[in-house]
Amino acid sequence: MTKPNLLSGMQPSAGSLHLGNYLGALVNWAKMQDDYNAFYCIVDLHAITVPQDPNELRENTRRTAAQYLAAGIDSEKAALFVQSHVPAHAQLAWVLNCITGMGEAGRMTQFKDKTQKGGSDSASVGLFTYPILQAADILLYQPKVVPVGEDQRQHLELTRDLATRFNSRFGQTFVIPEAVILKETAKIYDLQAPESKMSKSAADPKGLVNIMDEPSAVVKKIKSAVTDTDGVIRFDRENKPGISNLLGIHSAISGESIASLEARFEGAGYGALKGEVADVVVGAIEPIRDRAIELLSDRTELDRLLAAGAARANEVAEKTLADVYDKVGFIKPI
Ligand code: TYM
Repeated sequence: MTKPNLLSGMQPSAGSLHLGNYLGALVNWAKMQDDYNAFYCIVDLHAITVPQDPNELRENTRRTAAQYLAAGIDSEKAALFVQSHVPAHAQLAWVLNCITGMGEAGRMTQFKDKTQKGGSDSASVGLFTYPILQAADILLYQPKVVPVGEDQRQHLELTRDLATRFNSRFGQTFVIPEAVILKETAKIYDLQAPESKMSKSAADPKGLVNIMDEPSAVVKKIKSAVTDTDGVIRFDRENKPGISNLLGIHSAISGESIASLEARFEGAGYGALKGEVADVVVGAIEPIRDRAIELLSDRTELDRLLAAGAARANEVAEKTLADVYDKVGFIKPI
């Protein structure tokens, strides 16, 4: 029996992925690659929707690939590739742009958040159409599932809407994909502002745990995580966001239930919890960091793996694009 397809991706917009990317998506990607025909993409076209230094972008693209592999993505099982190596992404995005309403695109909250921070003059048209390119990334591969964190839910809804619209206008073309969002790790929070999601654009770098951070830096960040003055170790997202985040991170990595952690830390101080969370996090990410550094020492091999992944991706993507071009009425070149 052939396995159903799966697609997901991350932006190479920093030198390191963070704990939110890892727990919210990457752990799940590694698990799912056995049961699905998986396509894992590094979305460099998306990264340039905000200004990037070209040399840094090149470096961060390879660093992202190395972290995918180091975290357990197996390039034999999954196709690991760079978005710009598969021209069909930009080509399908154009067609989808033409069936998306301005108002529909304007309702995307991630765009609204980003423009609110920087003002609408600083935002590019690319940032506005970002979710439509994301829909193209997904729909090209006819995936049944798309494993992501909670912040991508709305983009997945748009993707489904566009696929449904295209299918009803032009005939059955796209599989309607489903988001896979794991409840426990859907949103990892910033250590310094535990009401907000952990994000690479964190106001305070101490709030952000990076996979490529030195272990001593990770310990320091976790030990200085914002908590509260109530002194009780209990999961309560609303009233105790800092402690709840630490418990959630511990549980996601160790597999120990929140109830068991609460019972074990009853009467203990916050310092004890932080110490253990730091150990658990370092235990999980230090081997990934070490392996990623090792992989980055052989760029030729890394580039070879990415080329092989792109060849597999292109094969599937070109087929879908050809069908789309035909359906909308483009004639084939002879
Ligand atoms: P990006 O690069 O911001 O994030 C990559 C993945 O990490 C998840 N994530 C989190 N999960 C839990 N807690 C957090 N604090 C946290 N921060 C990030 C994200 O939900 C995501 O799954 N638009 C996408 C990239 C993209 C894509 C795609 C994803 C482009 N095309 C096609 C899936 C399918 C993004 O910016 O992810």
